[in-house]
Amino acid sequence: MKLLLTGARVIDPSQKMDVAADVLLENGKIAGIAPELVKTINSKYPGKVKAIDLSGMIVVPGLIDMHTHLREPGFEYKETIASGSAAAVAGGFTSVACMPNSSPINDNRSITEFIKRKAAQAALTNIYPIGAISKDSAGSQLTEFWDLKEAGIVALSDDGKPVMDAALMRRALEYAFSLGLPVISHCEDINLFGGGLMNEGYYSTILGLRGVPSIAEEAMVARDILIAEFTKTSVHVAHVSTAGSVRLIREAKKRGLQVTAETAPHYFTLTDESLQSYDTNFKVNPPLRGIDDLTAIKEGLADGTLDAIACDHAPHGRTDKEVEFEYAACGISGLETSLGLSLQLIRDGVLSWPELIAKMSTNPARILNLPKGTLKAGADGDITVIDPQIQWTVDVKAFRSRGKNSPFHGREMQGRAVLTIVGGEIKYDGR
Ligand code: DOR
Ligand code: ZN
Repeated sequence: MKLLLTGARVIDPSQKMDVAADVLLENGKIAGIAPELVKTINSKYPGKVKAIDLSGMIVVPGLIDMHTHLREPGFEYKETIASGSAAAVAGGFTSVACMPNSSPINDNRSITEFIKRKAAQAALTNIYPIGAISKDSAGSQLTEFWDLKEAGIVALSDDGKPVMDAALMRRALEYAFSLGLPVISHCEDINLFGGGLMNEGYYSTILGLRGVPSIAEEAMVARDILIAEFTKTSVHVAHVSTAGSVRLIREAKKRGLQVTAETAPHYFTLTDESLQSYDTNFKVNPPLRGIDDLTAIKEGLADGTLDAIACDHAPHGRTDKEVEFEYAACGISGLETSLGLSLQLIRDGVLSWPELIAKMSTNPARILNLPKGTLKAGADGDITVIDPQIQWTVDVKAFRSRGKNSPFHGREMQGRAVLTIVGGEIKYDGR
């Protein structure tokens, strides 16, 4: 059966396309995009085409989240590969790359293969495992990059933990670069971090909570840029949260270095002021920063310094969050709110539609070398259909994710994914 999406606005940044057109899917691939295909296709293939009227909707290349924590193996009470996959398609994501900080850590091929097996069983979204840089992400011994690559990882990261040993990071960047594997750096100087609980500033002072200074992030962003420059390799900076990091990355790019970066929706939506509630759902690492940082993140998105918007989907159980602030786990369950929050950037005039879709699909595909993020003829039939007008209220009880830890519960949103198509098959239908 062929699938014909009719009457929508089709935006594909990979082809600089923004047109009113119909999209034909055949054998799981994009077969063609043209205005009013519907007039000819039905008569050409009578009874063989399922047409879906999408007037008022926006059709884009399937969204890609390059920073998701799926928790399996080991923390199935927080999320499983199946529940995370369901959350992904409900949030409009046709592909996710999953961080290795499961238990055991994805630092060897048997874990990578396990994840791929579970992903195939779930059969909802494409799942791309990310392997650990160091064994057990302990920061002392590199993993077997080649073996992990052969097993199917698309990138390397010790996310959740920094690689504190600069010499180890140097060797990681060199070796990974020679294999064509991107390295995603969780930039945090553990000593400057100092066991902090929230951003160091006015609010940490009045709340009496130990602060994490912005230089804990920036010192490592600077270090990794220097290592990438010195070794003529590349590095991708995860979850950028501070104005100083944006400035460092902007300067590095201006100097022609191979540095890419992502931020997450909470960093352009919330500030550390929210911590006044002591609600642990606002506890995240890196922490929510000040208003100047939030403004700089938006500027970094607007001028292209920040290439991607990634969820940093970090689902946790109630027992992880409903404890004293100090003991609460860091993270936000983000797959099902990311698009809704990001669409606000368009209404605020920060990004155009094609720019936003580039940051949520085309650019992550480019950074991770995935054959995705495009609607070119012959490409995989991964498509997200967005209703830009629909009003809805975030309700964590309705999340597909097991992680109900969202500071956005009860928030009014405008716009969401209403149809998620993976490999030509409808995997989520929220119409
Ligand atoms: O808030 C966070 N949660 N930041 C990280 O870097 C790790 C993540 C997690 O695994 O929960
Ligand atoms: Zn991280």
